[in-house]
Amino acid sequence: MSFEPQKINGKFKGKDIVSLDQFSPKDIDILFKLAKKMKVVAANGKPSQILDGKIVTLIFYEPSSRTFGSFGASVKQLGGQTVDILNPQVFSSVSKGETLEDTIRVFEAYSDAIVIRHPVAGTAKIAAEVAKFVPIINAGDGIGEHPTQTLLDLCTIQEKEGKLDNLTGVMVGDLLNGRTVHSLLKGLSLYKNNTVYLLSPKELKLSKQDFQNYSSQGVKLIEISKQEEMPKNADFWYWTRVQKERLQPKSLKNYENLKTRFIVTKDLIDKKAGKKTIIMHPLPRVGEIDPEIDSDPRAVYLSSQVRNGMYIRMALLSLVITGK
Ligand code: NCD
Repeated sequence: MSFEPQKINGKFKGKDIVSLDQFSPKDIDILFKLAKKMKVVAANGKPSQILDGKIVTLIFYEPSSRTFGSFGASVKQLGGQTVDILNPQVFSSVSKGETLEDTIRVFEAYSDAIVIRHPVAGTAKIAAEVAKFVPIINAGDGIGEHPTQTLLDLCTIQEKEGKLDNLTGVMVGDLLNGRTVHSLLKGLSLYKNNTVYLLSPKELKLSKQDFQNYSSQGVKLIEISKQEEMPKNADFWYWTRVQKERLQPKSLKNYENLKTRFIVTKDLIDKKAGKKTIIMHPLPRVGEIDPEIDSDPRAVYLSSQVRNGMYIRMALLSLVITGK
């Protein structure tokens, strides 16, 4: 039987975090409760002792700002230390041809958890199967998933809307290649009665298979092709960047055009957003949101969404490494 990461089932200690499929609403609740406490720990001005003497390896085969930075900051907030392997293709024995399997075996000997980002979907699962002694945390695997991003996204929605069910959202951009979109649709499927409008250029629509999978998991999906078709007063907008590095050659030629097909402007907000619609983006943005929107109180992408990233990662690291 092929390897599947274990369901969390209320117990995080030692578990790999590879996919949203491992979570139940109860697990997410446990995490959010601890994340709230982590907010206080982070504001305290000195590191806690929660990860005292622990080492976390951050191995990133793809560029990253927020995920790498917030994992590193989280470990340090908790009193632990990191081994940072950025760009292992250039700076580690991977450049000499070392396999992923060997790399994982080596770093699990040095650390208490491994956080991995990789350009190929499914790699975090392979790493989790290989690692025998320490948990693997998926920090994004190609077009696959980005579970910690989704946990922070759900935390932000819950904080602002007070619930994770009966929501109407709009997800926009590269739905074909965006792993944050894929994990978030799985996450929203865990709760009742959520509807998501999907707006993307036709080349970047959710794949048929993903559409069917997520729909069968519970979220109601409605594909639209123009901003005019967006519902009014949605609870959240989740804008995303066109994933240039993952485009097929035909779409890549058309990148400049695809990139700015759908943009959040003041005009769009005036026409479609409600007083409580939150504007989200996993970042980086490359022109999809007019900076004029940044000061709008409904824009959370540079404020609570970013901050929740650290609290959620602190909570998750504490739970998988220490069990509490
Ligand atoms: C995202 C990612 O890496 O998937 N960034 C992030 O982690 N916040 C989104 C992206 O790169 O577009």
